[in-house]
Amino acid sequence: PIQNADVDPHDRQGFAHFMLKEIYEQPDVVRQCLAAYLKPGWDSDQDASLSSNPFNLALPDELFATVSEIQLVACGTSRHASLVAQYWFEQLAGIPTRVRSASEFVSAPFPLARNTLTIAVTQSGETADTLAAIAAAKRRSSPAESSLQSWLLGITNQSESSLTKAVDYTLPTLAGTEVGVAATKTFMAQLVVFCCLALEFAFRRQALSPQQLAPTIAALRSLPDQIETTLQHQHEPIQTIAQTFANVKDCIVLGRGINHAIALEGALKLKETTYIHAEGYAGGEFMHGPIALLDATVPVIAIAPAGSVYDSMLANTEKAKANGAPLIGITTVTEPADRTVFAHPLTVPAIDELLSPFLTVVPLQLLAYTIAVQRGLDVDRPRNITKTLTR
Ligand code: AGP
Repeated sequence: PIQNADVDPHDRQGFAHFMLKEIYEQPDVVRQCLAAYLKPGWDSDQDASLSSNPFNLALPDELFATVSEIQLVACGTSRHASLVAQYWFEQLAGIPTRVRSASEFVSAPFPLARNTLTIAVTQSGETADTLAAIAAAKRRSSPAESSLQSWLLGITNQSESSLTKAVDYTLPTLAGTEVGVAATKTFMAQLVVFCCLALEFAFRRQALSPQQLAPTIAALRSLPDQIETTLQHQHEPIQTIAQTFANVKDCIVLGRGINHAIALEGALKLKETTYIHAEGYAGGEFMHGPIALLDATVPVIAIAPAGSVYDSMLANTEKAKANGAPLIGITTVTEPADRTVFAHPLTVPAIDELLSPFLTVVPLQLLAYTIAVQRGLDVDRPRNITKTLTR
């Protein structure tokens, strides 16, 4: 159990590094978060309970009823989770949502609208930029400054932290202690919390009917097994890919739609653990200049699960291939092998595109870890960075 007080979080429990241990803890982290935030039995007892609320988030009814806009402030990996969440809030619940780096929000806050929900996301609960952003949001929404109603919510892995003291409500991410400097399991937990929150908004606002919600909730419950399958099946191919590309200087990660955020997160994992110069781009935007970077020395990792953006991702990667770039593809098992352009395919189980970030991020975490180990680097404590940036 993740939160078991008897388990020393500073014991690697047989894993070579904390980062690897924490990647492998992700199925349990998802189970733990779902157990906290989803009511048991809702989807198996369809007749009795489908019209009741399936979620356990314990936020006020008024918040769900009145919020007209959401603003998300966070840094690094927590910002990438926020970008995934932006997609969910907008596409599932229809709520206009903006994301800004916490460090940019302080000097350039969003114009304040009535009934704004500000969510600060930080695994540590102590990141100075995020605390400064929430303090700025709080000042602007205080009764003395504004007559506009607003709500402050924190999402954090530290239930006793500076963040929890600064916000009105907290949703804990329940990932247990994360020792590796590169965030992995806390990112996964942030996604689960965000997904439940977006789905509760969608349910309460009737953007999704109970009948539409039921398969999504069933899919959420399948995630732990699917992450386990991904870990089992990808471990070996990733060793081979890591050997092939361990000495590259540059790498491009492409994603479209909801997986654009995962391209940014995959590139960040590569940068901070392997020191490879990796950049994440939206597939379409990459064509507008950055494609000039490509040649046979620059691998492209394309996140291309089955779904609405698959064909356009394939078109992007075909252009990359024409420019000589070696192609690594993260695809779903449902894609026929003869359609693939990828010399190095990594498949994840079939999944609804909207939930695909839960799976597509896993091979990227493992690849970054494996390359860092092959390069002989201190994977748990990369140079120049600390686990928490308090100033
Ligand atoms: C993640 O791998 C990084 N180490 C870093 O970007 C981190 O996500 C960022 O500093 C924010 O940390 P926080 O979630 O504790 O606020």
